[in-house]
Amino acid sequence: MRAAVVGCGYVGLANAAFLASVHYEVAAYDIDEKKIASLQAKAFPIEEKKLSEVLQKNRERILYTSSLKDLAHCDAYFLCLPTPAGKDGAADLSAFNQAVTTLQDLFDEGSFVFIRSTVPLGTGSALAKKLASQHVSVVSYPEFLAEGHVYEEEETPSRFVLGIDDDKSLAYFKNLRKKSLKEGIPCYAMSHESAELTKYASNGFLALKISYLNELSRLAERSGADIGEVALAFGADPRIGHALTKVGVGFGGSCLPKDLQALGAMGEEKGLSLLLPEAATAVNLTQPLYFLKKMDALLPLPGKKIALLGLAYKAGTSDIRNALSLSMSDYLLKDGAILSAYDPSPLARESFQKAQPAVNVVSTLKEAIKGADALLILSEEKEFAQLEEAALLPLMVGRWIFDGRNLYELGHFHYFNYASVGRKTVLTHD
Ligand code: UGA
Repeated sequence: MRAAVVGCGYVGLANAAFLASVHYEVAAYDIDEKKIASLQAKAFPIEEKKLSEVLQKNRERILYTSSLKDLAHCDAYFLCLPTPAGKDGAADLSAFNQAVTTLQDLFDEGSFVFIRSTVPLGTGSALAKKLASQHVSVVSYPEFLAEGHVYEEEETPSRFVLGIDDDKSLAYFKNLRKKSLKEGIPCYAMSHESAELTKYASNGFLALKISYLNELSRLAERSGADIGEVALAFGADPRIGHALTKVGVGFGGSCLPKDLQALGAMGEEKGLSLLLPEAATAVNLTQPLYFLKKMDALLPLPGKKIALLGLAYKAGTSDIRNALSLSMSDYLLKDGAILSAYDPSPLARESFQKAQPAVNVVSTLKEAIKGADALLILSEEKEFAQLEEAALLPLMVGRWIFDGRNLYELGHFHYFNYASVGRKTVLTHD
């Protein structure tokens, strides 16, 4: 069997790895020749341990290419193009549409096109209509992969969601994923529109859940409640669950923020004002500002040296798209703070330095901390959850730890003032 994966980002590479692992010959295509060259040299441009291992193990079955002719005569095409937020918030389909236009003449009669990109409602049906005369079947097959373990989730997803309108496509899919289906992973077949909305519904809800507790953390802080205690007891209700109940300075990444915007834009297009996606976005945009205001009240920021810890949008990744480190450093620089920044991921450091040339990006935690008045923790990296006071004391000038991810129990620090999210500030020092 031959398959083409179009777009070699996280989703595309996870697809290529899975297909190769079930013995497909895979052409993994990307328009970015530099990316293809690094993939050919086995320098995977992302830090995903399992994914890199599977790609490496199956390398003989994967052809990384920027040449369209390598995509001819495939049984199936997996479209994994980015759909970032456009100017009006709606998903920008230009990369997706361009790929479809260039590929259209290559599709053989009877081939299958799987849409893995997150696309607005109606995209799958429109493509199915466009390709019907070529007898090419289109399946909307949204992905639910969270960065950090994309391969694991591609291999063993919580569920399959398929927008499908013919039995032939369903039979093809069932054969492709027969092992997982046999293991009992549920498969929901529905219309293209329902599958597309399921993807947005899922990301929208995850974002809402985070924003909900983040907003309540402000109330907790002003009323003497501890949001950590609340979240623990709140999540113990099985109808609610503990997932996504960690409060912080907000969520980032290439998915949740833009999918909320896209939901709003789709609603507007249909004459609806969807209130909840907009509210989740508003809380998320104000959450870092809320925290900064608190910081500034405790330690006036102008001229202060702040060590920014955690540049990737979440721990264990190298991705800085929509990372809190970007907005936080913008605000802090504007407020006159002096920043040193660190992340354990060299790729995250490199991308952050390009995006924020005014910040001193360093390659060890120790260098970042040296001479700092305060630490500002922005991600849940293990290294940041194991800070030793004895090591910090001789390095730092000031005695402040601002924890934007609530990594420590209150009372953990004896020699540092400790301010976190939705909990009281612990003062140990003038
Ligand atoms: C998200 C979804 O979780 C995936 O299911 C989806 O497939 C993916 O988007 C996508 O559309 O491709 P991802 O952005 O990789 O995946 O990461 P999450 O683990 O959901 O985290 C998103 C953000 O929320 C991070 O900034 C994280 O720090 C933050 N977060 C997460 C919290 O603030 N609190 C939490 O309790 C959990």
